[in-house]
Amino acid sequence: MFSNTLLTFAFLLTVLPVAFFEETCKRTFKVDYDKRTFLKDSKPFRYVSGSLHYTRVPPELWKDRLTKMKYAGLDAIQTYVPWNLHEPSPGLYHFEGNADLELFLQTAADVGLLVLLRPGPYICAEWDFGGFPSWLIQQNASTVLRTSDPRFMKPAVRWLSFLYEKLKKYTYCNGGPIIMVQIENEYGSYGVCDKVYMKNLVKIAKSVLGESIVLYTTDGNVAQDLKCGTYPGVFATVDFGTGQNVSQAFQPLDQMQKGPRVNSEFYVGWLDYWGSPHAKVSTAAIIKSLKNLLDYGASVNMYMFEGGTSFAYWNGADPPFKVCPTSYDYDAPLSEAGDMTSKFEAIRKLLGKYKQLSPMNPVPKNSTKLNIGPVKMTKIASITDTKHIVLAKSVYPISQEDLSQSMGFTLYRTNLSERFYQAILNVSGIRDRGYISVNGLYQGTVDRNENTFLNISGGKDQVLDILVENQGRINFGSQITQNRKGLISNVTLNNRILKNWEISRVDPLLVNAVNKSQCAKGPTVFEGVFKSPRELGDMFAYFPNWTKGQLFVNGYNLGRYWPKKGPQISLYIPSAILLSPGYHNTIRILELEEVDCIQKGHNIYLKNVPDIDGPTSL
Ligand SMILES: *[C@@H]1O[C@H](CO)[C@@H](O)[C@H](O)[C@H]1NC(C)=O
Ligand SMILES: *[C@@H]1O[C@H](CO)[C@@H](O)[C@H](O)[C@H]1NC(C)=O
Ligand SMILES: *[C@@H]1O[C@H](CO)[C@@H](O)[C@H](O)[C@H]1NC(C)=O
Ligand SMILES: *[C@@H]1O[C@H](CO)[C@@H](O)[C@H](O)[C@H]1NC(C)=O
Ligand SMILES: *[C@@H]1O[C@H](CO)[C@@H](O)[C@H](O)[C@H]1NC(C)=O
Ligand SMILES: *[C@@H]1O[C@H](CO)[C@@H](O)[C@H](O)[C@H]1NC(C)=O
Ligand SMILES: *[C@@H]1O[C@H](CO)[C@@H](O)[C@H](O)[C@H]1NC(C)=O
Ligand SMILES: *[C@@H]1O[C@H](CO)[C@@H](O)[C@H](O)[C@H]1NC(C)=O
Ligand SMILES: *[C@@H]1O[C@H](CO)[C@@H](O)[C@H](O)[C@H]1NC(C)=O
Repeated sequence: MFSNTLLTFAFLLTVLPVAFFEETCKRTFKVDYDKRTFLKDSKPFRYVSGSLHYTRVPPELWKDRLTKMKYAGLDAIQTYVPWNLHEPSPGLYHFEGNADLELFLQTAADVGLLVLLRPGPYICAEWDFGGFPSWLIQQNASTVLRTSDPRFMKPAVRWLSFLYEKLKKYTYCNGGPIIMVQIENEYGSYGVCDKVYMKNLVKIAKSVLGESIVLYTTDGNVAQDLKCGTYPGVFATVDFGTGQNVSQAFQPLDQMQKGPRVNSEFYVGWLDYWGSPHAKVSTAAIIKSLKNLLDYGASVNMYMFEGGTSFAYWNGADPPFKVCPTSYDYDAPLSEAGDMTSKFEAIRKLLGKYKQLSPMNPVPKNSTKLNIGPVKMTKIASITDTKHIVLAKSVYPISQEDLSQSMGFTLYRTNLSERFYQAILNVSGIRDRGYISVNGLYQGTVDRNENTFLNISGGKDQVLDILVENQGRINFGSQITQNRKGLISNVTLNNRILKNWEISRVDPLLVNAVNKSQCAKGPTVFEGVFKSPRELGDMFAYFPNWTKGQLFVNGYNLGRYWPKKGPQISLYIPSAILLSPGYHNTIRILELEEVDCIQKGHNIYLKNVPDIDGPTSL
């Protein structure tokens, strides 16, 4: 595929230490291909597992969620490792807070769960850019992701070497919980069949984690996907949902591999998009298919067992550009807030027929929920009024990636050179949604999915502001390479290119109060407080009469709200981020469009029940 393949090889040979020494394992986990079973400490074994992404649950709640998964009767959990969270800029690693992967693995081990690790480097996961750091496409828009293109392979190998060195003490062989490590992720459906890339990924995993580590691949259960997604010597698994005839569903896999059968993503729920109805998978269908899988002797991972939340700006999008909302509840057996739903109870009951469920004392329970009621929000400033962090001054716009401003909001500002009335502002390069004002007067929005031009009016030397919202990068398919954000082409006003931009990062948390006037249109920061009650608990924020924006509580970025779009109406506020009883919690909201405040003041509401199944509008 690439002429530089040889170069890549030469690079790998010089960089990688090769594990020629004999490994000594404390414990063993193997695949017995002939007997179609796993062997755990030499005994036949099959697993029932569930997916939980540690980055989507506050670390304080990992133990709660994992304990509930153990209680459900699971043997193992499966998690992705998002490269972009852990390596925010080249060679700079982040493993704290919700990125503390070692703590997560240790907690899983403490609870008695095995781990199926999916380090990618590509993870899909409805996570920004499928887990890729946006610096991969900085300057080099032509880099071919998920191939042996050295501009991709070199940083990927560096990252995986670092990660595997850190995690090797957690392999089953070394006494830890990790029984299997996935190579790539549904690579067969990517459409690029670079076996050199696969070979490199296998090599780096084995050279650091040891020859004994069980590596696996996961692909759709069709021959075409299995052709490109699998690799000799790497254990192949498939994924499929409810309603399939199990023996038929495994047939394409059986044709290429004798061995235990594994469904690595048995869909017990499904993902949502803004503007599309909340997805659901029926419990009856799950129980029927899960029973068939278990009777067939298969191992299974339920995707997702607990979906959690794509906090802050971490949600992804599917092509052409369908954006996933903040909630990743996924209609999973454990809800976004970790509640044990009727789906959870039904699965636990079924698993109890196949194995001895571990008794638990105390029995896990749903979290406490708080019903605080209305919180009055006060306008503190228009976001464009206040101090920004200037990233660049440039004749023409620069993309967010080239500014090393991976996520969030970027302000593009220029001066108008003359007076304009109802002039056509053409922002065809908007990625993804822009909020436009002239001298602080809100003009409207442009959106890559809706309209990319807008009539504006303004005078000579007045300031034109385009606040650009990156709504999350595409995480799936070949369009993953076209993922630049901000303004990616010139902006014209009545067909004339606008020049001389000042480009800044804006942070709603850095805004100081400048204007106490209550009503506002356009991007505006509001603040409110509420007192922590005697017993802390989870809650859900509602935004009636608000339009679209971002919620922060005590400095934690809890994600995007957009109740007018649906289906997600409320945002999850986990108890873990609240201050101690009696203290005042601070809420900050960046409302991007408008809040109808004439009627009843602009309150938000903190309630004890979620609503992620509201009406939608496209
Ligand atoms: C971009 O690609 C070119 C050519 O392969 C390379 O010389 C350059 O270092 C790359 N830049 C970055 C930022 O990776
Ligand atoms: C599933 O397919 C197999 C093979 O085609 C068939 O023998 C079996 O009856 C089917 N099972 C069900 C439940 O339809
Ligand atoms: C736990 O929460 C779920 C989802 O809200 C609910 O269906 C279930 O009844 C709750 N369980 C208990 C014991 O309250
Ligand atoms: C706009 O004009 C003002 C006044 O001349 C100047 O201070 C400012 O830097 C200009 N802004 C941009 C983005 O060029
Ligand atoms: C935009 O301005 C043009 C003239 O520049 C006018 O023809 C058109 O009606 C305006 N559109 C709107 C929606 O105001
Ligand atoms: C905006 O610019 C793009 C790219 O130059 C062009 O294709 C499109 O027709 C323009 N739209 C309007 C309304 O001028
Ligand atoms: C903007 O236009 C200039 C002049 O035509 C061109 O050189 C430049 O590449 C364009 N920039 C973008 C981001 O399209
Ligand atoms: C405050 O905002 C109002 C309207 O939103 C505006 O008329 C007024 O000029 C602003 N005051 C200051 C000091 O910015
Ligand atoms: C929302 O606005 C409507 C009218 O615009 C008003 O009747 C209603 O009370 C408001 N709701 C809340 C919860 O503030």
